[in-house]
Amino acid sequence: MKVTEQAVIEALRPIQDPDLRRSIVDLAFVQNIVIAGGRVAFDLVLTTPACPVREQLQAACERAVAALPGVKEVAVALKAETRGAPLAGRKVLETVRNIVAIASGKGGVAKSTTAVNVAVALAQSGARVGLLDADIYGPSVPMMLEVEEEPKMSADGVIRPALALGLKVMSIGFFIPPGRAAILRGPMASGYVTQFLSNVEWGELDYLIVDYPPGTGDIQLTLSQQAAVTAAVICTTPQDISLIDVRKAIAMFETTKVPRLGVVETMSYFVCDGCGKQHALLGEGGGQRIAAEAGLPLLGQIPIDPRVVSGGDRGRPIVVEWPDAPAAEAYRSVAGAIAARLSTLHLDQDGALESFSLGWNA
Ligand SMILES: Nc1ncnc2c1ncn2[C@@H]1O[C@H](COP(=O)(O)OP(=O)(O)O)[C@@H](O)[C@H]1O
Ligand SMILES: [Mg+2]
Repeated sequence: MKVTEQAVIEALRPIQDPDLRRSIVDLAFVQNIVIAGGRVAFDLVLTTPACPVREQLQAACERAVAALPGVKEVAVALKAETRGAPLAGRKVLETVRNIVAIASGKGGVAKSTTAVNVAVALAQSGARVGLLDADIYGPSVPMMLEVEEEPKMSADGVIRPALALGLKVMSIGFFIPPGRAAILRGPMASGYVTQFLSNVEWGELDYLIVDYPPGTGDIQLTLSQQAAVTAAVICTTPQDISLIDVRKAIAMFETTKVPRLGVVETMSYFVCDGCGKQHALLGEGGGQRIAAEAGLPLLGQIPIDPRVVSGGDRGRPIVVEWPDAPAAEAYRSVAGAIAARLSTLHLDQDGALESFSLGWNA
């Protein structure tokens, strides 16, 4: 029996993307169908290389087509074309599809660690990723990444970002030691951020991860106003009982109309080597509580692991150095959730964020 392109498409139509909740055919994921005798090959073009269900989708496609009469062999090539916000109208960073703020109410909640590991995890999945350290007063990104190439200033004043572990990276820490950065005046600090947005050769990026300074100051405003941040992720620890600072950070993004993707709870629990049980050392439920209160999903919980610290201190983030550790897995899962929710956000033509946050893992 002769296999037709139409038959292949109809076999694939019932398969839905679980995040976007639409048929993969309607989403135009199925491309370049080639049929040669009993052999069917096509591309499955996802909205992000970091799609958490890419293998499941691929397997579902293979099964559906293999069940057609006359089909002897199916080859599904996974590809990705990262969706992004419309770039027209943005004055800076015209070649960056998604700018993601990693923010928190206060310091010391593993914000930079999260930014670094999420950025590297996205790059590991095949995305083009940049990391901007906007924590001008407390830059820690250069220390946390093994730098392969230092940033360079060209003759015309354009800065080429540093290269590290597959990322393009920019931080004031490359130019001024951390102690000196702490004594910059407010306008100077914002000036550096402006420079990093408009004067750095970021090139084509799927994701630019921005490690925000803690809290809600000048720099954060500069970023929101000048960079057209696509969305924000809020970090908190389980013991943040007052949660006042976290609420302020979330409110800041509301005011500046930046969509909030969700909450990441860091240093959530300790997995005991001996018994494998989870122990909540720093209290429990902070992330879930703040997420519920803000009507946002909890994107993940990162366990406490000394290897997160030692990896960070040596420029080898845990997702690189110990990729099988539970904390590394948690970071990859958070990266996938961020990528998936960004895809959903771009698909949501009305910009109706309420429906967007309801649809997740419900
Ligand atoms: N999952 C974790 N387990 C153990 N220590 C962690 C974990 N995540 C972060 N840390 C440590 O907590 C400290 C603060 O993290 P950092 O990312 O610098 O916070 P922030 O950027 O919010 O100030 C660092 O010493 C870091 O190594
Ligand atoms: Mg930090």
